[in-house]
Amino acid sequence: MKRLFITACILCICFYSTAQNAHLIIPKPAFISYPHSSEPFVLANKQPIFYSANFEAQADYLKQAILKQTGIELEIRKSSDVKNRSTTGIYLILIATSNNSPEQYELNVNKQNIDIQFHDLRGLVNGIQSLLQLMPIGQFNVAKISPIHIEDQPRFAYRGMHLDVVRHIFPISYIKKYIDYLAFHKFNTFHWHLTDDQGWRIEMNAYPKLNSIGSFRNETLIGHFKDSPAQYDGTRYGGFYTKAEIKEIIQYASIRAITVIPEIDIPGHSRAAIAAYPELSTKPDTIWNVATTWGMYNRQNNVLAPKPATFRFLEKVFDEVVALFPSPYIHVGGDECSKIWWKQDPATQAFMKENGLKNETALQTYFIEFIAKYLQSKGKQTIGWHEINEGDLDTSTIVMNWGTEKQAIEAASKGFNVINTPGKPFYFDHYQSQDPKDSLAIHGYNPLEAVYNYNPIPTAIIQKGLSSKIIGGQANVWTEYMGNEKKVDYMIFPRMTALSETLWSAPEKKNYADFLKRLEQNAIPRYLFWNSSWFNEYKKWDLSKSPK
Ligand code: ACM
Repeated sequence: MKRLFITACILCICFYSTAQNAHLIIPKPAFISYPHSSEPFVLANKQPIFYSANFEAQADYLKQAILKQTGIELEIRKSSDVKNRSTTGIYLILIATSNNSPEQYELNVNKQNIDIQFHDLRGLVNGIQSLLQLMPIGQFNVAKISPIHIEDQPRFAYRGMHLDVVRHIFPISYIKKYIDYLAFHKFNTFHWHLTDDQGWRIEMNAYPKLNSIGSFRNETLIGHFKDSPAQYDGTRYGGFYTKAEIKEIIQYASIRAITVIPEIDIPGHSRAAIAAYPELSTKPDTIWNVATTWGMYNRQNNVLAPKPATFRFLEKVFDEVVALFPSPYIHVGGDECSKIWWKQDPATQAFMKENGLKNETALQTYFIEFIAKYLQSKGKQTIGWHEINEGDLDTSTIVMNWGTEKQAIEAASKGFNVINTPGKPFYFDHYQSQDPKDSLAIHGYNPLEAVYNYNPIPTAIIQKGLSSKIIGGQANVWTEYMGNEKKVDYMIFPRMTALSETLWSAPEKKNYADFLKRLEQNAIPRYLFWNSSWFNEYKKWDLSKSPK
């Protein structure tokens, strides 16, 4: 009923809107003040957005976003003097100074005009997001925006959301929608998990069977993977993103200042690759299927075997990835690499002996070092899940910790830069309630409050003076139990909204009760505007409920 009421309010056609409150902005800005005059800026059709060279795409992005959100159509105008605010309008002003924080912006609204001042592209996009949050949602002839002064910058340099498109694949339209979710919440990185045991989802020219064979599985498990007996749907499933589609996504993200980091998961999680090219496996004479179930670790062979053909394969695959993605980072997975298949394989054991590798962990490090060096020679830095740090890896790579604080502390203490994505509470494939009737998830209990209150810098790291080693955080969205877009939305919202503030706002600015108010008054109306689903019992399922 309440939801119906909110929908009705949002969809009503109004001619004159009331201003939105800057104190509702999510994530919470660093500094807000209210100028003496309370006379609003009145946004109306045909008003100009002035921009300087290089920012036309962002001016147009702002214009389109305002049109979609308010029905008011502005015009974009290139200007050689954007600082001259003589005409009523919106001004996007690049301030070239040497000592500024990345992604910083200033937003000023007064009766005559609006300006966003910024030092870099991300600062501009962040300012645009705050401005859009000051505008109403609906169809208006004019909209009032109250005078405001905001100075803002993020707490962490890396603020990411991951999406697994292997266990379930989502259309390009949804990937764009997901990137819009990121932009609204001032995330700056989309981590695209493109390959795994259950499918290879990126077009490859040098190894076409990765797509003709590796991108499709014969069927998919129904229910939880631990259910016995296991049941399957009997339906062939799959697909992959063409290079043209991937370029379209990268371009879409780049306008929104979002870096797209591809993940090609090796040397484990490679069942789709060895299904396509069994010669890269420890049993070249076997016909492997692309996995139809989940939780492969130690249950089914999914590792690459160390041999010249495999290392050539890695070079060629990553050549194509590097050519496609402008991101300075490439994610090479490295997680859950089962050692038993290497232990059982005489050829692998012989390779280890020849190369002085004392155990399978050293072989895992060998793989990661091989690819990290190769990527470095192409000007890219490698990211891997925390298992890359099990052996003796040099610290030029970045560790993405999906374990507990222990692994984050270990990696930071060794000198790695760390992106903290602990399973508890940053895995959004875990339950957000303890309701036995809740939609199927893998396990766990990561309620909204836990996401909001988690400090990505563990106390032990602060005590060791290593805080700067935690460069940011991310939530991971594994889609075994998310077969469609609505389910992904349900699992990420409102937790993603909480995460945005955890990664953006200074700890002293955070307050859960205040966040809940802003969630209700600002974020949930957005979910409705986007036609997105969300988990709406977030108040009931807090940290006072202990896990089952
Ligand atoms: C992971 O959850 N295996 C990165």
